[in-house]
Amino acid sequence: MFIDQFIPKSYSQRIERGKVQHRAPSNIALVKYWGKKEEQIPENPSISFTLSESYTDTTVEFAPRTDFTTSFQIDFFFDEEPKGNFLPKIETFFTRIRNYMPFLRDYYFIVRTRNSFPHSSGIASSASGMAALAVCLMKIEKLFCPEMSEVYFYEKTSFLARLGSGSACRSVTGSVVIWGEHRDVPDSSDLYGVPMGEIHEVFDQYQDTILLIDKGQKPVSSSAGHKLMYDHPYAQARFVQARRNISLLKDILKSGDLSAFGQLVESEALSLHAMMLTSNPYYILMRPNTLAAIEQLWYYRMSTQVPVCFTLDAGANIHVLYPKAYKDEVRTYLEEHIKEYCQDGDLIYDQVYSE
Ligand code: PMV
Repeated sequence: MFIDQFIPKSYSQRIERGKVQHRAPSNIALVKYWGKKEEQIPENPSISFTLSESYTDTTVEFAPRTDFTTSFQIDFFFDEEPKGNFLPKIETFFTRIRNYMPFLRDYYFIVRTRNSFPHSSGIASSASGMAALAVCLMKIEKLFCPEMSEVYFYEKTSFLARLGSGSACRSVTGSVVIWGEHRDVPDSSDLYGVPMGEIHEVFDQYQDTILLIDKGQKPVSSSAGHKLMYDHPYAQARFVQARRNISLLKDILKSGDLSAFGQLVESEALSLHAMMLTSNPYYILMRPNTLAAIEQLWYYRMSTQVPVCFTLDAGANIHVLYPKAYKDEVRTYLEEHIKEYCQDGDLIYDQVYSE
């Protein structure tokens, strides 16, 4: 399946060499994407918050190609060190997108990248990493085609990022992003992420404190998890639930109803993990301290009425979400009562990205 609108007809400029760079944020899904069809088409739409402090910085230099023995000529550096074992991932990405970017075969690329969060923090870097690389490649394409419109730039970037890692397409533009077609969101698409309109101001700079419960690599990757949804007994019910949750969340994001927000977001997180618990083979990514910290958070919310809630990624770490107005008191509570559940007492203070 090729999507014609993203195949360039011709380039108006020819440029020998150059350098581009971009910082792409990570994101945390509120309604989760779990399960996909061919070519990274999601089984259900998802909505995420874009983060501010967790990001990837990438620089791409391009020059005339000198070696034609391989499909692409790429050198890759992570934290200034050559990282050969990351190359296959980038080559797979280039292979998937080469029909949309014919210039990839003609140049030698040097890619340098670094994350703001530690490599061994259990935080996935694929969303921010693939988004940063996709933006860099589109910045190069824009040099060849300066007349490109802004809308096309963002749609194609997100389209390409999706082919690198599904959730990466939500890390290209916007603070709250939907990816996946849904009848209640007219511009939504299975091919790329788009910013959600009309968000209540209570969500401006909404706080996300990431509790690093387990910094190790997770035992089952997300790609393996997506595959286990193929013949999962509850898959269809899950996709229906996610679609319904998109409709509900759209209204909640508009009204700012924080109690409804917490219920929906926590239910989504637990439903994601329920899919893992009931797949064949089954597996558990939460750790005992994940549950202990959740219980402590619930106790805190019940006894203070402070509107905190949590979400989980495909891992043991917890994202604690709360309005900016409660920043100081929640931070104090987390430091005093919840930090102890984190590996080495580590947590990351992040917040929703504001443009
Ligand atoms: O983008 P992937 O293939 O790494 O999958 C991401 C899946 C979740 O992070 C668990 C959910 C989501 O929507 O981001």
